[in-house]
Amino acid sequence: MLATERCRAGQGDHKAPRGPRCVGVEGDRGTRMDSTVWVYLTRQHTYPSPQGEQKEAAMAMNESVSSVLNEQINKELYSAYLYLTFADYYEDRGLKGFANWYEIQAKEEMDHAMAIRRYLLDNDFTPTMEAIAKPDKTFQNDLEPLEAGLEHEEYVTSLIHHCYEVAHEVHDVRTMKFLDWFVSEQGEEETNARDMITNMKLFGSDPKGLYDLDREYQARVYTQLTALPL
Ligand code: FEO
Repeated sequence: MLATERCRAGQGDHKAPRGPRCVGVEGDRGTRMDSTVWVYLTRQHTYPSPQGEQKEAAMAMNESVSSVLNEQINKELYSAYLYLTFADYYEDRGLKGFANWYEIQAKEEMDHAMAIRRYLLDNDFTPTMEAIAKPDKTFQNDLEPLEAGLEHEEYVTSLIHHCYEVAHEVHDVRTMKFLDWFVSEQGEEETNARDMITNMKLFGSDPKGLYDLDREYQARVYTQLTALPL
């Protein structure tokens, strides 16, 4: 949206009010404070209104960027689904601490999906909710879900990095900044997944060790992601 405004800066000493593009010129007479007569330059300015500037920036989201972010919503929701199956496995085994850990992980993945959805909406893009795939993993022992968890997080890291690369390609600095949080988060999640594997290998074969681990994971508390990670 464009706004127009008359400029009367005078005598060629033309000062544009907000960096406008001048689209017309005409002469006009005026009087200085010291009574000398001089000629105004009266120009009509055309410049984007503040709202217009924001709108243009919002609309600048590249189609490839919105597309990969939209896909990422689906991947995050799938992650939540996947981790619920892990929680179900451990619940079945009587390991409620491990089950708690993955239930919270599932909630965090849903928060990630919601954050990306909000980011798209705030940037004038309406996301499309696609079907979420059915997790198809089955586990033979207590270590396998943990290994599958690490493998999955490494995969999600590659997806986030891809989103970042697409944003970088089109110089979408805002989206790159938005994704910074996700890049760090993935680093933490991979570390957690590796630590859980290490702990299980070290202590999981001993009943007392497994009991202590389960107690440790029972202590994990969910904290909702309330603000956009910007
Ligand atoms: Fe939100 Fe760990 O992917």
